[in-house]
Amino acid sequence: MRITDNAGRAIGASVEDFDHTTASENDIEALKETVYRRKIAVLKGQELSPRSFLELGSRLGRPETYYEPMYQHPEVTEVFVSSNVPENGKQIGVPKTGKFWHADYQFMPDPFGITLIHPQVIPEKNRGTYFIDMGAAYEKLPDELKQEIAGTRCRHSVRKYFKVRPHDVYRPLSEIIDEVEQKTPAVLQPTVFTHPMTGETVLYLSEGFTVGIEDARGEPLDEALLQRLFEATGQLDKTFEHENIHLQTFEKGDLLVWDNRSLIHCARHTTTPEPTVSYRVTVHDERKLHDGLERA
Ligand SMILES: [Fe+2]
Repeated sequence: MRITDNAGRAIGASVEDFDHTTASENDIEALKETVYRRKIAVLKGQELSPRSFLELGSRLGRPETYYEPMYQHPEVTEVFVSSNVPENGKQIGVPKTGKFWHADYQFMPDPFGITLIHPQVIPEKNRGTYFIDMGAAYEKLPDELKQEIAGTRCRHSVRKYFKVRPHDVYRPLSEIIDEVEQKTPAVLQPTVFTHPMTGETVLYLSEGFTVGIEDARGEPLDEALLQRLFEATGQLDKTFEHENIHLQTFEKGDLLVWDNRSLIHCARHTTTPEPTVSYRVTVHDERKLHDGLERA
């Protein structure tokens, strides 16, 4: 296994000759350390079946199966499928996922630390995923804004981006909304926490999933504060040219592993519809999202 940090950039490393079936425990530790330190590791030359992909992911942590069955791979349920390419006339997984800023499972009480993506069918023109390092973004906030959010908490919910399922057709919208709020009630997390693996300070919020902010006593704060945080971190830049935004491209055989605590991401917008298929596995490492959850 050879790990090379991307030259001249704060994010990214490439990993060659990694074989999850023969990797030692030391190799796995070195890989995870690279993910936390460089935020994204790209494993090169991987051509894995859904089952093997899950096996690789399981070497890094405990897999989390996506809670909505329509996203699951029909044979390997732990594999989440994003696809607009029907197989034998049948839709597998869900098309057009994640085209908004978010951290995976941010709306859940116990988000996992690591996301792995293994692209299967790669678009010609609009390949890649946008990322923002919310640890680095926090450092760049003006001091007044840092002080303003100290001790606050944010509320996260899937409600804005919940995708209606085939069986929701003909259901009243109010009934679907009630189901979403009951099954996945909004969760509170500290606006800022210490990354348990790196010690860095992470700003934990996203335009897609963060729906409110409150002070230490639980009193709601003005929505405008959230908007200022989205703006300052680059999430409102529709051109994706903000200095905080990193475009991660990939090619066939790549397998991306990233730090889901400090990175938020946004699928690249396609202007023309192109075939895209991607598999995802998500895993819990040894620690919770932050130490506050460890004690809960
Ligand atoms: Fe995602």
